[in-house]
Amino acid sequence: MKQKTIFFCSECGAETAKWQGKCPACGAWNTMEEAPVQPAAPKGAARKAAVGPRPVPKRLNELDEGEELRFSTGISEFDRVLGGGAVRGSVVLVGGAPGIGKSTLLLQMCGLAQQEKILYVTGEESCRQLKMRAKRLGVASEQLFILSETNLTDICTVIDDLSPTLVIIDSVQTMYAPELASAAGSVPQVKECAMSVMRLAKVQGFTAFLVGHVNKDGAIAGPRVLEHMVDCVLYFEGERTTSFRLLRAAKNRFGSTNELGVFEMAERGLRGVENPSEMLLSGRPGNAPGTCVACIIEGTRPLLAEVQALVTPSGFNVARRNSNGLDYNRAMLLLAVLEKRGGLALGGCDAYINVIGGLTLDEPAADLAAVLAIASSARDIPLGNDLAAVGEVGLTGEIRSVTAINQRLTEIARLGLRRCVIPAHIRSEVACPDKLTLIPVKNIREALAAVLS
Ligand code: TYD
Ligand code: MG
Repeated sequence: MKQKTIFFCSECGAETAKWQGKCPACGAWNTMEEAPVQPAAPKGAARKAAVGPRPVPKRLNELDEGEELRFSTGISEFDRVLGGGAVRGSVVLVGGAPGIGKSTLLLQMCGLAQQEKILYVTGEESCRQLKMRAKRLGVASEQLFILSETNLTDICTVIDDLSPTLVIIDSVQTMYAPELASAAGSVPQVKECAMSVMRLAKVQGFTAFLVGHVNKDGAIAGPRVLEHMVDCVLYFEGERTTSFRLLRAAKNRFGSTNELGVFEMAERGLRGVENPSEMLLSGRPGNAPGTCVACIIEGTRPLLAEVQALVTPSGFNVARRNSNGLDYNRAMLLLAVLEKRGGLALGGCDAYINVIGGLTLDEPAADLAAVLAIASSARDIPLGNDLAAVGEVGLTGEIRSVTAINQRLTEIARLGLRRCVIPAHIRSEVACPDKLTLIPVKNIREALAAVLS
């Protein structure tokens, strides 16, 4: 008899009976993968017999809180993103592109979380390779056990025998459950692997970190397939070409999701960056046109970033527009507002926008800095290296207020900037730091007149 198969989206895990070019759930193209159907669970009486005693629900107020115990990973930026350390018994998924530094981060954590008994399961490296890496990172711990294995049943047996307090699975896509017919890295395998580890973690009370590779072409199931199951989802991002790495929480059952951890990849592993604004602003060009400093709030921290723009006369019929670090549609909107309300003729110009350091500015408070950088490049007049701008730009060219203005201004002043353009109508709420001159503006025209003349 022909074996029945079913199709899974390797992006989001959605199931369909037939192959489709586009996933009906998440809309991704060419991500549907075929996998054999597992035999159905027994029904009715047979199932009852198999399950054993009936489960009993409890009243909410009879449950004890079993306090949410946290422990430190030893890496302050990592702790920050986890919401103040890792929660015991929780399952954390660490996603990111291959080579971004997931294994490095977790291995460094193993070296620093000294009071834990740790099992590091690697399906990608041999024990020798791992030893070499650990040596380079200066990781040496009595209580760190390494297992180079991909068979899930064997891994679970080892966990049972060892009773560690911390388990690292690097990566979920290399593990396989022998009872499933599909290949390692397929949606059913990745789900089964995560489920088994989660079940064990809840029973035994250890904390689990799962590594999940994010891949663009959908050849293996991505971490999004697991997002709804685990307690905490972290994404490790950054450009391979720069040493800057950002750790973000996409989901956190025990803390806020907008905290950002900033790292630098160095010779001997990752180093937390305590003062990211300083690093992001280092190496700014001298008094050049087309650059302005924006201030965004990431979690609880203000962060300064440099927005650069290059506007040149276009050699083509259709002007080229490109945006990196600022949403493309937002950038197009700002260009249109500048043209219509700021009186800048940009129609026949190519425009390129770039945010330094691989950072993404998704907060509208960065609008004004982007607008000023574009105008500065278009007019070829430098804004000056001591200028920052905060404010949202509306469609009529008005400059709208932003949250946490005083926190932003303090950070701007701390990094030695001297002037800041702000929305005029929040002037009264502002406690201006010493040595900072405020430039309140009502709309784009006023802003351009104030800093570009
Ligand atoms: P790795 O942690 O293996 O990435 P992942 O597990 O996410 O696939 O990181 C590999 C990259 O990091 C590799 O390109 C080399 C670089 N690296 C350093 O620059 N310094 C170091 O000390 C280490 C261990 C890695
Ligand atoms: Mg790795």
